[in-house]
Amino acid sequence: MNIVIRQEKPNDFKAIYDLVKVAFQTAKVSNGKEQDFVNQLRSSGNYIPELALVAEVNHKLIGHIMLTKNYIKNSDCKTETLLLAPISVVLQYRNKGVGSKLINKSFALAKNMGYQCVVLVGDPAYYSRFGFVKSVDLGIRHLLDIPEEYVLACELVPGALDEISGTIDC
Ligand SMILES: CC(C)(COP(=O)(O)OP(=O)(O)OC[C@H]1O[C@@H](n2cnc3c(N)ncnc32)[C@H](O)[C@@H]1OP(=O)(O)O)[C@@H](O)C(=O)NCCC(=O)NCCS
Repeated sequence: MNIVIRQEKPNDFKAIYDLVKVAFQTAKVSNGKEQDFVNQLRSSGNYIPELALVAEVNHKLIGHIMLTKNYIKNSDCKTETLLLAPISVVLQYRNKGVGSKLINKSFALAKNMGYQCVVLVGDPAYYSRFGFVKSVDLGIRHLLDIPEEYVLACELVPGALDEISGTIDC
């Protein structure tokens, strides 16, 4: 299976909306609005076109990921980070490494662009393989009352979060 990972384009947006909507129907946790969240992120100032990627096989979309700008805040400063959300793979193409390819490619691009870290709310059973750890262990908490084992952070550059502490509200 030849999986191509490339930047999303405006004429993919409708297909991505449908892909995300259907993918989250089989997610462990979903509010049913992840497809709308994608549109909100695109129209926010936090959108980074280079880090919104699709996976395709024979020109058919089978996956999507977005890394957008976010901030770790404390009373003294605001540190830029990336938020990984959402990631979606078409059910029939799961467990074939598509999600991993989307994450690894987006992280490599992000690192090249100078980004230092990524945060997300998600299942540690999946994300720990990419280097995510509980963010609270790095001094970063969620503003909302989300169980701390699901609030994760990953350093793209080792030590990037050493001097950082604060909250996220993504
Ligand atoms: C999560 C998702 C993107 C993974 O995509 P994928 O292409 O199947 O992922 P990969 O093939 O790279 O990895 C598959 C591995 O991850 C594991 N995995 C997938 N989802 C998992 C989850 N929620 N919790 C724990 N492990 C998970 C699989 O069991 C498999 O494990 P193995 O390598 O030990 O066999 C896909 O399942 C999906 O779209 N789910 C619905 C949307 C969703 O839940 N998004 C994430 C929200 S946090």
